[in-house]
Amino acid sequence: MSKGTFYITTPIYYPSDKLHIGHAYCTVATDAMARYKRLCGYDVMFLTGTDEHGMKIEDKARDAGVTPKQYVDNIVEGPRGVKDLWKLMNISNDRFIRTTDDYHVVAIQRIFKKLHDNGDIYKGKYVGKYCKPCESFWTESQLVDGKCPDCGRPVIDAEEEAYFFRLSKYADKVRDLLENTDFLQPRSRVNEMVNNFIKPGLEDLCVSRTSFTWGIPVDFDPGHVVYVWVDALSNYITALGYANDKYHDYDKYWPADVHFVGKEIVRFHSIIWPAMLMSLGLPLPKKVYGHGWLNFGGEKMSKSRGNVVDPYILAEKFGVDALRFFMLRTFPFGADGNFTNELLIQTINTDLANDLGNLVSRTTAMAEKYFGGKLPAGGELAELDGELKTLADQVRENYRTQMDAFQFSVALNEVWQLISRANKYIDETMPWALAKDEAKKPRLLAVMKNLCEAIRVSAIFVSPVMPDTAEAIFQRLGVPAEGRTLEAAVFDLETDGYWNTATGAPLFPRIDMEKELAELEALQAPARPAIEIEPLAAENVDFDTFCKSDFRAVKVKDCQPVKKSEKLLCFTLDDGTGTDRQILSGIAKWYKPEELVGKTLVAIVNLPPRKMMGLASNGMLISAVHKEKGEEKLNLLMVSDDIPAGAKLC
Ligand code: MSP
Repeated sequence: MSKGTFYITTPIYYPSDKLHIGHAYCTVATDAMARYKRLCGYDVMFLTGTDEHGMKIEDKARDAGVTPKQYVDNIVEGPRGVKDLWKLMNISNDRFIRTTDDYHVVAIQRIFKKLHDNGDIYKGKYVGKYCKPCESFWTESQLVDGKCPDCGRPVIDAEEEAYFFRLSKYADKVRDLLENTDFLQPRSRVNEMVNNFIKPGLEDLCVSRTSFTWGIPVDFDPGHVVYVWVDALSNYITALGYANDKYHDYDKYWPADVHFVGKEIVRFHSIIWPAMLMSLGLPLPKKVYGHGWLNFGGEKMSKSRGNVVDPYILAEKFGVDALRFFMLRTFPFGADGNFTNELLIQTINTDLANDLGNLVSRTTAMAEKYFGGKLPAGGELAELDGELKTLADQVRENYRTQMDAFQFSVALNEVWQLISRANKYIDETMPWALAKDEAKKPRLLAVMKNLCEAIRVSAIFVSPVMPDTAEAIFQRLGVPAEGRTLEAAVFDLETDGYWNTATGAPLFPRIDMEKELAELEALQAPARPAIEIEPLAAENVDFDTFCKSDFRAVKVKDCQPVKKSEKLLCFTLDDGTGTDRQILSGIAKWYKPEELVGKTLVAIVNLPPRKMMGLASNGMLISAVHKEKGEEKLNLLMVSDDIPAGAKLC
């Protein structure tokens, strides 16, 4: 019997580029949760999809010489596109929404009209900043160093006639929701939202644009298209049939049980989305969970940073289940995690090949050898078996608690306690020794059945994360359908006529770390642009301020490493004044001190003095920086030695 409904969503993805493993992270987590809830007996609705409108896509399509629809069609439906990726990753979504779907378009127009008719949308003039890649508007005060606070890229000035949503009207209610309920998790995200967005004052939100056309038209005011986030957030209800006739599940599944979203879009889901729903008079989702980012090389994985990891390469090499497991086992869901190929291989070798894989291989091999794969009723129990059962019962309890709190890594850690214990149980019981003595056959039988039981129970627990592996294990042990449910995941010391085991190839062959790392490096290298340079500054500096900077040619008289510092070099410089100038520079990684003596460099000499490692630095040497294949490179600016010390650069 169904336990009730469970509605879970992923963000809908921008099909502006091919998706990478960072995108797959959230969808895999959502899939594991959906499978877990099905296992618990819920009637699950799992929604994902694509968010296809906006200026960025219009621009990309123009560059590619196709229409925006052709552009997104290719990335969503085309080879190795979004849908293919979800198939590859074994994603069990019940529905897939595209915001270009007709029913969604009509529903958005109705939603926009409703917000307008109830007085929460009004016409005004938009003056502000816009980050094109993020499709986000910002006020001047929200920028960080004049750049987009989310992605750090330059923003552009925007001014146009626009509709506004009265977000300010809902500020108190939203604050109450965030501070006084469990709506937003993990709890740390609440402070981020309240301090960064609500306390500085929620301004009304610009919700229509006239400067581009690739969006859903406001039907009562042609020329305006609906702001992408209003269009995108509403997917969670339009996909159930709200304001359209395509589906009829709204009453059954809304409000959603949880929206899983990445941390940078928590703002939209925990402030704008509830305010929109309040305005529409609809119930709010029960929870928003803001997970962390999968970083690569210390930075968020993203196409523009050139550090994306291709899930196809990894899945083809190591298998989809291993990849899914790695993501959920290694990184706590609410925090950021640093993806490395080494860590991936190490996790596969340790947890999957050594622990789980070995347990299954050893057990099935012994069951085959000692009992021909058929384990009959009976057997002689011992005290140790009770310990194994007690642990399995505890693990079951903890696993459920942790999964219910979306703590995949902790839940899996629990399961691995049981798997490790079962491996130890083999060493303790020594079935090979029992097999030598016919009188000990009943004990041997009980040991083998307990091992099968520990594996069966563990396989149920891992099945939401590694569905194919769980299936393979059930088959190898001969577990019937009724023995595969969460309800049946209770360790039984008296299993009867149940087991019919088979041996097979290792579930997870051990990976040769060095060989695979070299291969991966070669395969992943082309994904990274060889040379990366910082984007140009978004803001101009005024001419008079610039002219105050005093750049001079300086000659290196001496250069020494700084004690206890791996980074700093200490320069004694001739700046043409007759008095030596000392400057410290963090370039030891790139230069040996002796190779710089005698060189003519460029320094800015009118910065206030600074102390570093107890030494004074009077100015700064100028260098050129960029990244090559992800690695930071630095070149000191060197000028002709014909230029005298102290010559002014202007
Ligand atoms: N279209 C919006 C979502 C609208 S939901 C109403 C969007 N799309 S996105 O494609 O840019 O990102 C989709 C999700 O992928 C976000 O939750 C984002 O945080 C997540 N990730 C993108 N890169 C990621 C990592 N490197 N690591 C983890 N998640 C990442 O935002």
